[in-house]
Amino acid sequence: MELVTNSLKILNEEDKKDLDVARISEDEKSTASRKLYIESYGCQMNFADSEIVASILRENDFATTSKIEEAELILLNTCAIRENAEQKVRHRLQHLVPMKNKRKNVKIGILGCMAERLKTKLLEEEKIVDMVVGPDAYRDLPNLINEVEEGHKAVNVFLSREETYADITPIRLDSNGVTAFISIMRGCDNMCSFCVVPYTRGRERSRDANSIVKEATDLFNQGYKEVTLLGQNVDSYKWQSADESTVTFANLLEMVAQVSPDLRVRFSTSHPKDITDEVLYTMKKYDNICKYIHLPAQSGSSRILELMNRTYDREWYMGKIDRIREILGEECGISQDMIAGFCTETEEDHQDTLSLMDYVKYDYGYMFAYSERPNTPAAKKLTDDVPDDVKSRRLAEIIARQREHSLERNQLSLGKVYKVLVEGFSKRSQEHLSGRNDQNKMIIFPRENFQKGDYVNVLVTECSSATLIGKAVK
Ligand code: SAH
Ligand code: SF4
Ligand code: F3S
Repeated sequence: MELVTNSLKILNEEDKKDLDVARISEDEKSTASRKLYIESYGCQMNFADSEIVASILRENDFATTSKIEEAELILLNTCAIRENAEQKVRHRLQHLVPMKNKRKNVKIGILGCMAERLKTKLLEEEKIVDMVVGPDAYRDLPNLINEVEEGHKAVNVFLSREETYADITPIRLDSNGVTAFISIMRGCDNMCSFCVVPYTRGRERSRDANSIVKEATDLFNQGYKEVTLLGQNVDSYKWQSADESTVTFANLLEMVAQVSPDLRVRFSTSHPKDITDEVLYTMKKYDNICKYIHLPAQSGSSRILELMNRTYDREWYMGKIDRIREILGEECGISQDMIAGFCTETEEDHQDTLSLMDYVKYDYGYMFAYSERPNTPAAKKLTDDVPDDVKSRRLAEIIARQREHSLERNQLSLGKVYKVLVEGFSKRSQEHLSGRNDQNKMIIFPRENFQKGDYVNVLVTECSSATLIGKAVK
């Protein structure tokens, strides 16, 4: 994640730490007279939503800025997935108090999942907040801003069964001009017992397939080379077209893949219970659909998976992995999410998680200590009884195991040639470029005469657990 250095000069170390996980809006070239600063936390869907918000507010004469000190409207698009995600936002608000005291006219709005979860309570608890807006209420922002300007506090946390913002063209923020996200659905109907998302994002709904294909086509025409289709559970995408035929996720993938062979297609997240053979065969059929699947397991213990209400057990999940490898081959990239220390987790359950990891040998992982979220089924029915030090130790073991597997998987790439889509300079040097291969692995190589957006064949010569290093070949 690139930080916008301009806006950092007025921040202290604490702020920088908070911002390390946030995305900041860019300086938009525009004739708009009002300045809007957006900071986004949480998942890619939230980042994509901020681009919709920027688009809605452009109609209201707002242009985005990376300099918080010149903004008249500050929006924090927040995440509620774990307690520390909310703490980060509370911290950030604390640090905005002096600015708000100095510049009385600046307005502060909280958007996203924390807004939806806490509703008017946020206004009571955080006095500097003027406006609280949930993820389905962004079209109402212009009205809410008017209310705030008239001196009132404004709230809209209505969750919709239909809203998909299908007709709104996002304004790309923090973009490299090569890769972009497209939201294809909203909400989640799964009710995993630990998860707050069904309450903050509402019921699952799929976006008009034609509007998705149009967005992908427009992006390609503007020079983008890769789109990632986003949803909490993309494999349950289902849309009814005007002639009553149903577009499934496999159908949609195919439609987007057909935009151009030079447009790469990725997707995230897949729920293991919903990813079908049809999706796997569609991936196989198109070279431009990347052979990479993010398939969160959450635990390797069938008993814990049952308590989590994940609707699959260990054996079923392993069967899915086997199927992926059968259809797409050993090289297909697979990554995980794991939760350490869920309610009642024993040492044996934890060992089951480690042994599942040994079985799969994931390329990459996102790993978390369980954090109880108020009003979720787990909070209501189960006891968060694994002590913090045990959670931390188990999490550390999971992370260490993942690091070993990432290295092992990366070593398999040594001596092989991959087609890399260049996303920009490597973090360390302007003499090196970085981009990802099909399996979503970052590869660094000498720049020569290549540019952002080029596809380059790269021979991998070295690796660490995080990166592959190589050189371009014919
Ligand atoms: N829809 C995706 C995940 C969304 S949330 C899926 O079903 O996989 C991203 C990840 O955060 C989850 O996969 C889970 O690993 C983690 N997570 C969610 N709730 C959590 C909680 N209460 N405590 C710790 N981690 C959590
Ligand atoms: Fe949360 Fe489960 Fe839905 Fe993912 S599938 S968003 S973990 S409820
Ligand atoms: Fe966080 Fe909401 Fe995404 S809770 S992970 S921002 S859907």
